[in-house]
Amino acid sequence: MADFIFKNNSMALVLVICSFGLCLVSTHAELQRFEQPAKTEGTLSFLVLGDWGRKGAFNQSEVAVQMGRVGEKMDIDFVVSTGDNFYDNGLTGKQDRAFVESFTQIYTANSLQKQWYSVLGNHDYRGNAEAQLSSQLRKIDSRWLCLRSFIVNSELAEIFFVDTTPFVKSYFTDAEGHTYDWRGIGSPRDYIANLLKDLKLALSESKAKWKIVVGHHAIRSIGHHGDTEELVRKLHPILKANNVDFYMNGHDHCLEHISDTESPIQFLTSGAGSKAWRG
Ligand SMILES: *[C@@H]1O[C@H](CO)[C@@H](O)[C@H](O)[C@H]1NC(C)=O
Repeated sequence: MADFIFKNNSMALVLVICSFGLCLVSTHAELQRFEQPAKTEGTLSFLVLGDWGRKGAFNQSEVAVQMGRVGEKMDIDFVVSTGDNFYDNGLTGKQDRAFVESFTQIYTANSLQKQWYSVLGNHDYRGNAEAQLSSQLRKIDSRWLCLRSFIVNSELAEIFFVDTTPFVKSYFTDAEGHTYDWRGIGSPRDYIANLLKDLKLALSESKAKWKIVVGHHAIRSIGHHGDTEELVRKLHPILKANNVDFYMNGHDHCLEHISDTESPIQFLTSGAGSKAWRG
């Protein structure tokens, strides 16, 4: 695990008061929006991890312990998961014990008892994808929130979560023996067009100091999977046009920091591990 710490010298002092840890506010855009209360001193810290649910194996438990230590030191506000939450094939259903065995019983440190914001990865789509989106999981562990695409607003930073798996054509045309749970997607073309329209609108309206986009697949990567061509073509131009600061992803099981040569975007990969952000 490594830390990438970004400091912001002119921090806005914003306090959002919610009667619950998590509040949902309505918006004219299609993307659901969540307000994340900021710390009174106007700072924001969070951990990002991806490709993790292994019932403790593959060093998941060891990384979880280190996340607990770093989370404590940084006094984190929340945790972001970039997907591939449960290996190998997502959850079988809402009652799948893997949820407790790979999440609740692993991330036990005090500092990690915060809201988790998660998207789905391609491995999650190989199981019952809708189970992970179910509010019933929050009754088992209230930290859990996984949706396809949504926005978290903490004022200092606005984080735009994007469901990237349906962008990848080969999962539809050359599934290599895997089955994907495409319920709720309908026509992938329309799904992607609507998602990009909503994202564009939300990004253009954002007044946040930091604009961060999170997805499972890399736009740019020199790791095992490399670039995701569909995202280079369809998502990257929207991020460039809207002054996005960071794109954070998993999928490639490594740590990467790639700077865009055409815009200020920083591409950060944190698969099979975690890293930290502070603003
Ligand atoms: C766990 O971490 C140790 C120490 O870095 C490494 O030697 C080992 O290969 C890892 N195990 C797995 C299954 O990745």
